[in-house]
Amino acid sequence: MSAELRLAVLISGQGSNLRALIDATAADDFPAKIVMVISNKDDAPGLKHAEAADISTLIISRNTCSNHADFEAEMTKAMEHHNVHLVCLAGFMTLLSNHFVTHWYNRIINIHPSLLPAFKGLDVHERAINAGVKFTGCTVHYVRFKMDTGPIIIQAITPVITGDKADSLATRVLKQEHIIYPLAVKWIAEGRILMDGERVIVSGAEPPMGVLINPEQCL
Ligand code: GRF
Repeated sequence: MSAELRLAVLISGQGSNLRALIDATAADDFPAKIVMVISNKDDAPGLKHAEAADISTLIISRNTCSNHADFEAEMTKAMEHHNVHLVCLAGFMTLLSNHFVTHWYNRIINIHPSLLPAFKGLDVHERAINAGVKFTGCTVHYVRFKMDTGPIIIQAITPVITGDKADSLATRVLKQEHIIYPLAVKWIAEGRILMDGERVIVSGAEPPMGVLINPEQCL
């Protein structure tokens, strides 16, 4: 992998993960840099993070393209123009076609706010609370054809606390997202990701730190 991996970050909303990636990549020794941010919404609040960091932004709305294929073709053209190596979906609320995923195969990653394969899709925190799980978390994975599927690079665990509402849980999960997304990018840039079929092995990853039990009062 090149010394400096060139990233495109695709957003639709707040862009807090974009912000985490901007902060991480600002370090001199970080082996990747964001060369462009694409938003499919012209009013995405996250765009301000890109502008503040002087990163080139592009707004491509599905509505201004005649069809979904054109929309994706425009994104690919822009990213290839910027010589993008890795596409980072960060709250990009548009389904991507098999054609697009094939074009960027193993060069497109996503962050999802659950411990995949549990709770794919939307309203994940509400669904996790209603299901009564004691742990949830977040996942960074390579993108495959079906939504929220693909080889898992890294996950972080967040306990579900009595009285949690979707908002409170989302806030704690997001904090973990901001840690693991830059870490996944760093590992990819360092060439530490090995694929065993559809399983990711991270070379040099630390052994697990221990067993987690929640609620901890049971101990
Ligand atoms: C995050 O929870 C991410 O996991 C999901 O969409 C949300 C985006 O948040 N895919 P932000 O725009 O990065 O703040």
